[in-house]
Amino acid sequence: MIDKVGIVGCGVMGAGLAESCARAGLEVKVAVSRPASADAGSKRIHRSLERAVSRGKLSETDRDAVLGRISFTADLLEFQDRRLVIETVPEDEATKLDVFAQLDKVVQDPGAILASNTSSIPIARLAAVTQAPERVIGLHFFNPVQVLALVEVISSLVTAESVRERAVEFVTGVLGKQVVSSPDRAGFVVNGLLVPYLLGAVRVVESGFSTASEVDRGMTLGCAHPMGPLALIDLIGADVVVHVARALYAEYGEPLYAPPPLLVRMAESGLLGKKSGHGFYSYA
Ligand code: 3HC
Repeated sequence: MIDKVGIVGCGVMGAGLAESCARAGLEVKVAVSRPASADAGSKRIHRSLERAVSRGKLSETDRDAVLGRISFTADLLEFQDRRLVIETVPEDEATKLDVFAQLDKVVQDPGAILASNTSSIPIARLAAVTQAPERVIGLHFFNPVQVLALVEVISSLVTAESVRERAVEFVTGVLGKQVVSSPDRAGFVVNGLLVPYLLGAVRVVESGFSTASEVDRGMTLGCAHPMGPLALIDLIGADVVVHVARALYAEYGEPLYAPPPLLVRMAESGLLGKKSGHGFYSYA
């Protein structure tokens, strides 16, 4: 039974995941590399829970209980007793490989599952740095994790079927989310379709054909999307979209996946969207 979960990283996705797991009654330990990351992650979780309290979705007592189930550590050694660890560090392959190599040594229960929330790196590549690649799987959550129902479950060619079954049971039975299975290829199912659409919207703005707000108005009013593509890039982060686009381009070599120069410049300039305060729009 998966009752103790470890989350590596506490950015937007890690914090959302920690909150979701704790709200499902699990004991959650979050590993961060620096004290400042624990502060920022903890603030994210507090803000999100306050929002739920202020909307009458969560009592103050339940908020305190949720917070009581989440702890932070700077030491991955504390993950020895975890039955499931989900890695959510930035989308940098060397960093993720390093995390998996460490988890492989620390998490000794052969029945424990090592999962990655990567949106672009093949699961097989992460599994290859471990001694037990059959217990490595992709669990790809969507932002905001607390709200969106989908988790893509990605088995590599060597992931054990029993690991996939337990991961699906965790996602559906414990977290109450829904699963789409995907083969182990860049972008999986959703980003393979979503990212070319987002990049297309950037090209429309970059070429001067239309403005960000007009494109977004068009897609929200005309297609009933909850938000337009440029606002969505701001939510996901320009840096993340560039990373995923590069991974898709490297895998398929198709121009539609190549990140447009404007988006690359925004990522390089720190205009990342909501998380940095500025992107296609400003967030005071
Ligand atoms: N954290 C926690 N809860 C949040 C939240 C957040 N960041 N943002 C919104 N919510 C909650 C609100 O509390 C509210 O909950 P309630 O109904 O229980 O009170 C509910 O979501 C609706 O929020 P709002 O009324 O404030 O705003 P909207 O109705 O405009 O919804 C949105 C905001 C949920 C972000 C919606 O616009 C949306 O779903 N947008 C699309 C997001 C999307 O496509 N995400 C996928 C990105 S791709 C990805 O993540 C993959 C990666 O690999 C790139």
